[in-house]
Amino acid sequence: MHVTLRQLSVFHAVASHRSFTRAAEELHLSQPAVSMQVKQLEENVGLPLFEHLGKKIYLTEAGTEMFRCSRAVAQQLAETEQTIAELRGVERGQLAVAVASTVNYFAPRLLAGFSQRFPGVHISLSVTNREGLLKNLEGNESDIVLMGQPPSSQELVAEPFMLNPLVIIAPPDHPLTRLRRIKLNRLQNETFLLREPGSGTRIAMERFFAERRITLSTGMEMNTNEAIKQGVEAGLGLGIVSLHTVGLELEMKRLVILNVEAFPIERQWYVVHRQGKRLSRAAQVFKDYVLDEANSLQGEVQPAGQRHRE
Ligand code: PGA
Repeated sequence: MHVTLRQLSVFHAVASHRSFTRAAEELHLSQPAVSMQVKQLEENVGLPLFEHLGKKIYLTEAGTEMFRCSRAVAQQLAETEQTIAELRGVERGQLAVAVASTVNYFAPRLLAGFSQRFPGVHISLSVTNREGLLKNLEGNESDIVLMGQPPSSQELVAEPFMLNPLVIIAPPDHPLTRLRRIKLNRLQNETFLLREPGSGTRIAMERFFAERRITLSTGMEMNTNEAIKQGVEAGLGLGIVSLHTVGLELEMKRLVILNVEAFPIERQWYVVHRQGKRLSRAAQVFKDYVLDEANSLQGEVQPAGQRHRE
């Protein structure tokens, strides 16, 4: 049986409307052109597909079978068209991502995986602290933001995707490294290096100790995780950082995590965008990608032995 797609789609329109006239209108063809396609299809099939009774037309048994087939083909074509349109959207998209400075320790790995899968998407990445990200969201500057839990006061959609444990780091020769379950009070004898105001890590740390009525003595203020780590290594004080920032230093035994009661501070990373924002196809796919990849990433970014319960 030789059937062309053209014949099938014309037949489908006639069968759907049970009318040659309306099929012709829908397809922007003349009525004789529609009749011709149907006639040729009937010749190819070797059986009539329509019965004309009075002014009405009906499907014959062969016509009913053919209609089942044309419906399946039409549906398949529509789905394929949709998939291709989506692929096209992702392939040529632009994507503006902003991440917390602390997230930037693993964000490049996420972006690399995404770029490999969607090489046509042009990504711009901006890195700043929590305060900068909240301004960014307010100004609608990025498609997707990866950060700590945003305040509920802003109209945002925020979905957690990965744990973010905050730990206390010390140089390997610090006396506290020999102790287990160090009491929080004991930390009051130590000096802590601080991230800048506006850092999510700092806000979480301050909240944690304020809730427990513990006052820490604070030393230098530094505006990057790198500076905090270097400062701790140099013996300027203890530091509180995300576990995700110290993988290398722990491996090289340049820093040690102290075993302190109630630690780590349990936080989460969130994928965030403004409520009501029309996400581009590329942004939607990136968001799904982050949520999907989080599990495998969690294993990579969290040094063995430091995984912790939710
Ligand atoms: P930050 O990290 O300390 O670099 O701002 C973001 C956050 O923890 O919310």
